[in-house]
Amino acid sequence: MNMDLKEIKNEVFKELSTVENTDDLENLRVKYLGRKGELTLVLRSLKDLPINQRKKIGSEANKLRNELENKIKEKVGELSAYGRPTAGWQNKKVDITAPGVKISQGHLHPITRVIQEIEEIFKTIGFEIIEGPDIETEYYNFDALNIPDNHPARDMWDTFWLKLADSKSHVANGTSQMANSRDRSNKQSATGNKLLLRTHTSPMQARYMEKNNPPFRIVVPGRVFRYEAQDVSHSHTFYQLEGLMVDKDINVANFKAVIEEFLKRLFSKDIKARLRPSYFPFVEPGFEVDLKGGQFKDWVEIMGAGMVHPNVFKAVGYNPANWQGFAFGIGLDRIANIKYGIDDIRLLYSGDLRFLNQF
Ligand code: PHE
Repeated sequence: MNMDLKEIKNEVFKELSTVENTDDLENLRVKYLGRKGELTLVLRSLKDLPINQRKKIGSEANKLRNELENKIKEKVGELSAYGRPTAGWQNKKVDITAPGVKISQGHLHPITRVIQEIEEIFKTIGFEIIEGPDIETEYYNFDALNIPDNHPARDMWDTFWLKLADSKSHVANGTSQMANSRDRSNKQSATGNKLLLRTHTSPMQARYMEKNNPPFRIVVPGRVFRYEAQDVSHSHTFYQLEGLMVDKDINVANFKAVIEEFLKRLFSKDIKARLRPSYFPFVEPGFEVDLKGGQFKDWVEIMGAGMVHPNVFKAVGYNPANWQGFAFGIGLDRIANIKYGIDDIRLLYSGDLRFLNQF
């Protein structure tokens, strides 16, 4: 270790005079005043010196430190003074052929891109885009969709119920607590006013039909929630796109034509759709739609669908003798995963930049 303060001082000031930018200055500061800096080491070793030397060297070292700190401050001001060329600028070479530094740009989330792309397709086939609330009442999420309380089909949608301490304080401070889906002890009323996080986008079928008269075609993209364990293909939060078309004389063939056209535009011309019988309380008949062709060698399940159940029409005040319609619910995460080759749904909601930067 160099204990010769004079020598250190000479060195410091010589180096200081050649500093041209803030990086140089920072390097110099670290070299002398940093944790293992030359001057720092001197100051730290004072305690091992005999008392008479300690005083002398100590006061000199402290003086030098103060001096250096002040010089550095001065220099910072000099270097950052606007438009002031740093010393030696005349000799600096600028490589004007060097490639520029690319400014990194953000982009839309894969789910957002899928939503936008699908909306565009449905717009061109005459569908209107509607949105609805994430927080729903039991009535719209279930009752209006032909799923009365105690109907076993409610188990198809494990539900986050919102438990309100009391309704006034809820409105006042906007807080609510989650309650287990099977814990119905927090009933607010028996009339379907209980609040929940919508388990599907289907409640918008009822909300829209209550306020609008047929004929119409709508799609409803949105976030939905289920009280489920998470794994590669399940997330407590995900996205759906609901579709609903109501008119006179709508039949299953109309649905198949619309949905096949949609799938061809989204994936490729040689996609085919297949309907398999399935059950949802708000449609009759109900089906599961699979697709095949193009990049898909095997049938892939893509959505639930069906012809609107007469009870749903009744609940919204339509006469089921006069109107028919089809409804479908597409899992958007599913589409994003297929489109972008993602094998774990949880990645979509991780906010992990290592993942997001790949799109
Ligand atoms: N809402 C259903 C679900 O989430 C999907 C669906 C929508 C089925 C419309 C039929 C008609 O599982």
